[in-house]
Amino acid sequence: MRLNKYIADSGIASRRKADDLIANGNVKINGRTVTEMGCQVEDGDVVEVNGSVIRPEEEKVYLLLNKPLGYITSVSDDRGRAVVTELVSDINARVFPVGRLDYNTSGLLIMTNDGELAYRVTHPKHELTKTYRARVSGVLSVKKLAKLRKGVDIGGYVTKPARVEVVMQGERSAVVEITIHEGKNRQVRKMFAAVGNNVQELERIKIGRIMLGHTKPGHYRKLTKEEIEYLRGC
Ligand code: URA
Repeated sequence: MRLNKYIADSGIASRRKADDLIANGNVKINGRTVTEMGCQVEDGDVVEVNGSVIRPEEEKVYLLLNKPLGYITSVSDDRGRAVVTELVSDINARVFPVGRLDYNTSGLLIMTNDGELAYRVTHPKHELTKTYRARVSGVLSVKKLAKLRKGVDIGGYVTKPARVEVVMQGERSAVVEITIHEGKNRQVRKMFAAVGNNVQELERIKIGRIMLGHTKPGHYRKLTKEEIEYLRGC
């Protein structure tokens, strides 16, 4: 990238002003003052303007990933497990997961390099709902459903009211959709365990109004403009 564009993209000056900074000897690349206009910045170069290191702002990227099982929602793992960022490595931006899903949970995960949006979306104050489809062991009686809806104790914390609908009740297991307004660690698993039904499979299908849709496990799509605006407005 040309040096004046690099400076302009870092948000500190227009391209023309960047040319002035360069001509006036205010700019260094890798510790060496440069005054040539056409100078190029290569990957890994350190650019300083008036003694401060600058970096171009990345274009903001917003992705919806269908997280497969067996991935952790992190950018790296010291135990060598697969991380979700590997699934978006063809995106030319340092995106990170917004919130988390368990290693054994699949489904909707938003990934972005927009820290401000990530903060808003995960802040408890905004209470974005999250909807999961779960396969649980056993039978979900009317009594158990009422408890789950009202709030259950998951080890010193009573969950807030939730929407719980049985999609299918089989002989030995049930498929349920559950919408919660909070995101305690392993909350859905703990809620069903609290009424004696173990979660066998768990998939997140919705965050607020954003739906997983037909994106296949391990694949991602860009969020639409409307979806981004919706998240910004939360
Ligand atoms: N609740 C869980 O128990 N696990 C998840 O990954 C998400 C919600």
